[in-house]
Amino acid sequence: MERTLSIIKPDGVAKGLIGEVIKRFESHGLKVAALKMISMNKKQAEGFYDVHRQKSFFNSLTDFMSSGPCVVLILEGEGAIEKNRQLMGATDYTKADPGTIRADFASSIEQNIVHGSDGPETARYEIGYFFNALEIVR
Ligand code: CMP
Repeated sequence: MERTLSIIKPDGVAKGLIGEVIKRFESHGLKVAALKMISMNKKQAEGFYDVHRQKSFFNSLTDFMSSGPCVVLILEGEGAIEKNRQLMGATDYTKADPGTIRADFASSIEQNIVHGSDGPETARYEIGYFFNALEIVR
């Protein structure tokens, strides 16, 4: 079984989409193995997005991600990383397939409702960033 890290970003929480997003995960065979609501400060958001530190959007992105509460989840299932990416749709919501979370709800390339790990190594790092062993269902 594969695991991936998902974040319902501050825009998703503010728009009242927590239930809708989790319903999409669960109805497509992804099980929730851990879940919590957090409020990241700027430093914590910067640490999470460290790989994007040199990007032009880094400051704006980390301001946004520390602007309000997020829900962080571990999703588990066969091919969970890819399945989650398909359910989210492309980062740029204008290029996301119809029926994906971002196509349906995102309002900009930055405020795109959800984050998902992009590969196994990223998933391990991102899960470890938010969850300790006691918080993960076995
Ligand atoms: P996410 O999947 O969380 O990974 C990095 C985030 O940076 C991305 O979703 C967007 O929220 C944001 N992002 C990516 N590309 C851009 C961009 N060109 N301009 C602004 N924000 C971006």
